[in-house]
Amino acid sequence: MIKVIICKDYNEVSDRAAEIMLDVVKNNPKAVLGLATGSSPIGLYQRMIKDHQENGTSYANITTFNLDEYVGLEQEHPQSYYTFMHQNLFNHIDIKKENVNIPSVQGDDMQANCDAYNELLSKQKIDLQLLGIGSNGHLAFNEPGTPFDSVTQVVDLKQSTIQDNARFFDDDMSKVPTQSITMGIKNVMDAKKILLVASGKNKADAIYQTVKGEVSTDCPASILQKHPDVTVVVDEDAASLL
Ligand code: GLP
Repeated sequence: MIKVIICKDYNEVSDRAAEIMLDVVKNNPKAVLGLATGSSPIGLYQRMIKDHQENGTSYANITTFNLDEYVGLEQEHPQSYYTFMHQNLFNHIDIKKENVNIPSVQGDDMQANCDAYNELLSKQKIDLQLLGIGSNGHLAFNEPGTPFDSVTQVVDLKQSTIQDNARFFDDDMSKVPTQSITMGIKNVMDAKKILLVASGKNKADAIYQTVKGEVSTDCPASILQKHPDVTVVVDEDAASLL
């Protein structure tokens, strides 16, 4: 069942998403959070930081798992998801370094990196999985056509995703990595609770297919219809086709 919350703008999306996130963290200080990158969760992360600073909500016993990472970027690259997460959240809260998990893309053996991440995930249940969505309906970097039973793997990015993400690489598609390591759709569906945030007209079709479309690998996010506890928080533009 997907519960849809329609908000007037991005700020309200971030407010509502933060309420859901903080409810989990405050009720379970040892919660395991699945976290996402992209522009969609930034407002939510800002609210988590503000709440940590003002109300002292602690992340000392929280564990996090990030969804994905670009293959071919050093950890310190300004556009790596490692850098993104530290700049936008981890550097500003009291989370312990050893409790932060982001797929490693270091070394030569990407399959071994995927296996290690799957192994870690198999030992913990994610309490709340945060998601954005690609304009083509991708979840993390699980592009259209990805089997629903996929687990952490190396994937090739679709041309449309490279184009969407070029804005972070000086608008130069040739600078965007062509592969990533991503948690699979099964890993996402194993979470107890899922929170998807999206805003803007370019997400409207993907949100329509996710909430009302046929469940099909053509839109990876449509599988969320089969999960028992999903909340989609969207602005009016992203909800415009519902
Ligand atoms: C990337 C990420 C996805 C994210 C998507 C949307 O492709 N791998 O996890 O959901 O971008 O990003 P944005 O929120 O910037 O639109």
